Amino acid sequence: ARKAAALIMARRILLTDADHNDLTLDYLKLLTGRQRLRKTESRDVLVVGAGVAGMVCARLLQAAGHRVRVLEANRSRVGGRVKTFRGDVWQDPRLHAEAGAMRIPSSHVLTLALADHLKVPRRPFDLVDLPPEPDQVSDDSRVVYKSWTGEEFASGEAPVYVAPKGLGNRFVHVNGQTVSKADYNADPGPINKSFGWDSGQTTAAAFDKALDTARAYTMTKNPDGSWTDKPIAERVTGMADLLYDMDGYSLLRYLQEGEGWSDAQIQAVGTLENLTSRLSYGFLHSVFDAGDINPSVTYFEFNAGTDALTEALAADLAIERGRVVTRVRTDDDGVTVTAEPETGPEDEACDGAIGGQAREYRADMVVLAVPFAALRHVDFEPLLPYGKRRAINELKHDTAHKVLLEFTERWWEWDEATWREKLGSDYRPAPHGDAVAAVGGGCVSDEASRFVYFPSHPSDGGAPGGVVLAAYNWAEDALRFDALTPADRHTEALEHLTGLYGERIRHYVTDRHVSQSWLRNRWALGEAVIETPGQLLSLGPHVATPVNGRLFFAGDHCQPRYHAWISGAIASGTEAAVQVADTA
Ligand code: ARG
Repeated sequence: ARKAAALIMARRILLTDADHNDLTLDYLKLLTGRQRLRKTESRDVLVVGAGVAGMVCARLLQAAGHRVRVLEANRSRVGGRVKTFRGDVWQDPRLHAEAGAMRIPSSHVLTLALADHLKVPRRPFDLVDLPPEPDQVSDDSRVVYKSWTGEEFASGEAPVYVAPKGLGNRFVHVNGQTVSKADYNADPGPINKSFGWDSGQTTAAAFDKALDTARAYTMTKNPDGSWTDKPIAERVTGMADLLYDMDGYSLLRYLQEGEGWSDAQIQAVGTLENLTSRLSYGFLHSVFDAGDINPSVTYFEFNAGTDALTEALAADLAIERGRVVTRVRTDDDGVTVTAEPETGPEDEACDGAIGGQAREYRADMVVLAVPFAALRHVDFEPLLPYGKRRAINELKHDTAHKVLLEFTERWWEWDEATWREKLGSDYRPAPHGDAVAAVGGGCVSDEASRFVYFPSHPSDGGAPGGVVLAAYNWAEDALRFDALTPADRHTEALEHLTGLYGERIRHYVTDRHVSQSWLRNRWALGEAVIETPGQLLSLGPHVATPVNGRLFFAGDHCQPRYHAWISGAIASGTEAAVQVADTA
């Protein structure tokens, strides 16, 4: 049974099927209108959840002639875990910043091609710090996807964007030491030794090397050290073998047993590469994520905020907000869904409430596109199949926390001379060397704040200030921020930032308390599914499978390669639309 599950999940991860069709290619065509869903009799479809997955699914079905309605629990907005803080959240209402999805890897062609199709402008997101504009290519670029079938999908004529090499002026701050990333990369020894790890290798290089064992299942190493995908049939069997051999491994166990790493090495690499909080999670999630988050990947963001994408998706849909689904009854002729009005506070915190006059909705088919954990609070009649219930109850949902600080000026774009000029007689030197003008990039620290990200661009609309993501953390790190009051989160993150950049930045900070806990959000119930060891094979095959030809499932939890990414939501929403059309 584990062997069969491994094959099912290998195909899902690679977005292929028993005939080795390339589903990424099919989905690209569907999402950009180059292809349509199978033509059938028009059906009543109810989509539950107006996040990316639900709205993508609803749009495709509507375009194919089905009568589609969407229910959304959140009274104040659509978008789910795409959420942009904008307007009077800030002292300067021209600013915006992301509570959720913020960066799109260039390899996430489904997201980029869909955004281009919807004419949502995008620009580079700099994971590494770069000299301030106008040096930077700020225009969009072509989306190119080369399939193993030999077919190529390209979205236009513009050149493919290649990110410039980073300056490396942001900080690594651990064990009481603070050095620039460039200095760390040039000589990792002193920082590594502060963990008790005596190595001249960077933590990024060490982790990259550790993934070679996993890579070798689906790729071939070239003489120059680069890797090439194996032919698709071998990739599928290789991925199935990888799942079979290693789904039971946590990241910790893999690094200890598989790679023979010492505790000191695990702590050094874990701290700098953001792995510490995930050591107990399934190893394979870290393999997949490593391909998406590393300094060699190019990213994009949406110029007007990520919610520009979800607003564009919502445009032609009939979405009823403030309706919380509590009951789903399937009979021979269709499905009756009960929804209650939402009456909690607008801020999405956990102290909301539902109540009032319930309403019933009748449909031929229902697509459940809410976070999986939310289905635990819905009554199903008849009971969902055993495997599905287990998956709903047990699948691990990770959490994430972001603290955003507003500044009235973009001081991170200043060099030391500019600081002198701005502060005059109040001028004080920076604690860790002269300032270098830069946009984007970020710092890593072993303090509670963990990861800092600076904006890659000014906000549209000419605001002189900007918003810094002053603390971004996951899992245990996030839980510790969740427990603080909003004011304390702000204080903690600001103190951390002044430790790195000096008290002088306090001249420009505003007093806005803006933070987002994805666990303590009553509609999200977590950041995203990240499996614990064994769950990919034991629960994975039950997550997305339709029930009785009436109930369908969508959301990034349904796409194991892309949990916690918009691409996962888009792929699963498209898959659900295809399933509905094929059943209708
Ligand atoms: N896609 C998100 C990001 O770019 C989250 C990635 C993984 N999340 C996690 N908890 N491991 O930051």
